Amino acid sequence: MTEREAGPITGPDEIALLVPGGRGQLGRELHRRAQGRLGLVHAPGSGELDVRDEQDVTDAVDSFAETARDNNLRPVVVNAAAHTAVDAAEGEPERAAAINEAGAAALARACAVRRVPLVHLSTDYVFDGTADVPYEPSDETGPRTAYGRTKLAGERAVLAAADRAWVVRTSWVYGAGGGNFVKTMVRLAGERERVTVVDDQVGGPTWTGDLAAGLLELAGLLVERRDPADRVLHCTNSGRASWYEFARAVFAEIGADPDRVLPCATADFPRPAPRPAYSVLSPRAWNAAGLSPLRDWRSALAAALEVDGAALRGEG
Ligand SMILES: NC(=O)c1ccc[n+]([C@@H]2O[C@H](COP(=O)([O-])OP(=O)(O)OC[C@H]3O[C@@H](n4cnc5c(N)ncnc54)[C@H](OP(=O)(O)O)[C@@H]3O)[C@@H](O)[C@H]2O)c1
Repeated sequence: MTEREAGPITGPDEIALLVPGGRGQLGRELHRRAQGRLGLVHAPGSGELDVRDEQDVTDAVDSFAETARDNNLRPVVVNAAAHTAVDAAEGEPERAAAINEAGAAALARACAVRRVPLVHLSTDYVFDGTADVPYEPSDETGPRTAYGRTKLAGERAVLAAADRAWVVRTSWVYGAGGGNFVKTMVRLAGERERVTVVDDQVGGPTWTGDLAAGLLELAGLLVERRDPADRVLHCTNSGRASWYEFARAVFAEIGADPDRVLPCATADFPRPAPRPAYSVLSPRAWNAAGLSPLRDWRSALAAALEVDGAALRGEG
């Protein structure tokens, strides 16, 4: 039996969690799930902690780590801060880089100095989207957008700056907080007779509820030093869908006729930033780390509309 196996398992109430980007879609969900369960949760928005300000970042991590250790809690940081406006990033790549690369690197440096493990969120946009089988974390990257390039640079900077940093890539995220595809489809179902949605982009829809639960499970491993061997992991709901299939599933879940959703091609809707045609992420490394697989995206969607129904319907 190893020392760790013999030792006591850390309870959630012994964990202290810092979530930069705490007012974003994922940050809010992490806060919601962790509050009252973990020993300490601090989820500052960009107004309180701007990751572009290195001194601010250092001070925030220092004071968080100190408070955690003063209270016999084990600190962990999950970075949910990002410039996520994919089309806007094409016109402001420096701003995207300042947040997605430099800001992430500053956070990793501060975590390394304070010996606080870091989980850094990244994206399917680091890939070029030309595959036809799920991407493994070690597969060749090839971002085709400013967002994807700055996120990839952020991954590399984080992994170089801190030994105990892990990158978690996810995709097609939706949840109660923030604008997202599910909210848009619910709204359009009420406004229009027909909705046209692209059918030639395939990916993995992911509910913030399941993603946050997975990230908290990973945080639990890290505070116990049960470190995943792979430092880049993929975490999405399982299965695959085109946006068209995803839209039909939303309509079906809310009791609208899915046949009101019509398929179209990406070429019919030119955007400033090209979208990956295929960006399904393989969960193999996540599962190999002993982390729980996330359920199928269709069951997750049903759960999301049950748990977060009011917010997803724009009533919350
Ligand atoms: N959404 C998706 O479909 C998706 C897909 C794949 C991966 N991801 C990744 O998942 C993570 C979370 O994404 P999300 O969906 O929660 O995005 P989000 O809703 O846009 O949240 C990002 C948060 O980062 C904050 N932020 C921006 N600039 C900042 C700065 N300088 N300092 C501190 N915080 C700053 C934003 O605050 P303000 O609003 O105040 O600027 C926002 O609250 C990101 O790493 C993203 O790349 C998302």
